[in-house]
Amino acid sequence: MNTTVTNSQTQPIVIAHRGASGYMPEHTLAAYSIAILQGCDFIEPDLVITKDGHLIARHDNRLDISTDIASRPGFASRKTTRTVDGVELEGWFSEDFTLTEIKQLRAIERIPETRPHNCRFDGMFEIPTLTEIIQLAKGFEPLRGKAIGIYPETKHPSHFQQAGLPMEQTLVNTLHEAGYTNPDAPVFLQSLEVSNLRLLSTLTNLPLIQLLRATGQPRDQAICGNSLSYDDMATRTGLKNIAEYAQGVGPEKYHFIIPPDRDGALHASNATPFVQYAHEAGLKVHPYTFRAEAEFLPSNLQAYALRDKQEPLINELLLFLNAGVDGFFVDQPELGAEAVRRFMAGRSKNVPIDFMR
Ligand code: G3P
Ligand code: CA
Repeated sequence: MNTTVTNSQTQPIVIAHRGASGYMPEHTLAAYSIAILQGCDFIEPDLVITKDGHLIARHDNRLDISTDIASRPGFASRKTTRTVDGVELEGWFSEDFTLTEIKQLRAIERIPETRPHNCRFDGMFEIPTLTEIIQLAKGFEPLRGKAIGIYPETKHPSHFQQAGLPMEQTLVNTLHEAGYTNPDAPVFLQSLEVSNLRLLSTLTNLPLIQLLRATGQPRDQAICGNSLSYDDMATRTGLKNIAEYAQGVGPEKYHFIIPPDRDGALHASNATPFVQYAHEAGLKVHPYTFRAEAEFLPSNLQAYALRDKQEPLINELLLFLNAGVDGFFVDQPELGAEAVRRFMAGRSKNVPIDFMR
């Protein structure tokens, strides 16, 4: 197999955020398949763990957010209250269910008000395991003629560690057994926490990505009583510290790279030195999350986005590509691929973002 996609390619990478989540209920084999056919380089499964230790793709361990579990009478008594990462939640949680039980569920659209068109697929698709996602990606490689990368995120790693269900060794074993072992394999492993990335760096040579939220601090740091915040981690010194255990960062796009004006408008001239500092430290920069719907776009693109579903996001992406990012998480992968095509063809100068008001 031609593995032209690696984690070290020079062309910016398109990471299909939860699959083609703009078009299908997220984290389903259907959403990942559409993303691959739309030209993404990597598919992104967020991972939680089951009671019997299987890694499954869900954004949250609270299952009623993105599955039909709340409408299944057989599981009604399993609803509970749980504190997750310091927040008390009521619902059904992955760590209380076996994989056999999880497989009885079907995915539903997580943000139906924003994406009502996705709801027509509610109830159609199973909750996939990491192993199934890897099999899917490898299955598409002959059609795409290149490797399809996998970009898993460990969700709530401290919570699962405290529940006696650590994720890291299972994650590494699954990837190694699938043949992803060397530092150049088409894989990135991501986390919002620090301790589990440091642990992963001792378990695998696969590249690691430190996610950075716009506010707050990593949950593991709070548990340890450390004051380290995401803003601390994003300084020049903080980024050098990240480079001790990770190969890249996944920053929230506006807070760290191009902050909008007070009126919410985005301009290239507002770019921070973050990308420069990260590159100085030897870190790749993969910001999140790019979405085409008007409500997610900066104010100077929103009016245009009501008339055109493609160009506003492509133009926003071109601003970030010109700011030097090495890839990005996007809910509409085909628009991400088009932005990269234009960028690589040198058609990204004088981005007409200010003409779209
Ligand atoms: O992993 C990148 C991005 O997805 C982080 O935010 O909450 O969408 O997983 P979230
Ligand atoms: Ca994620």
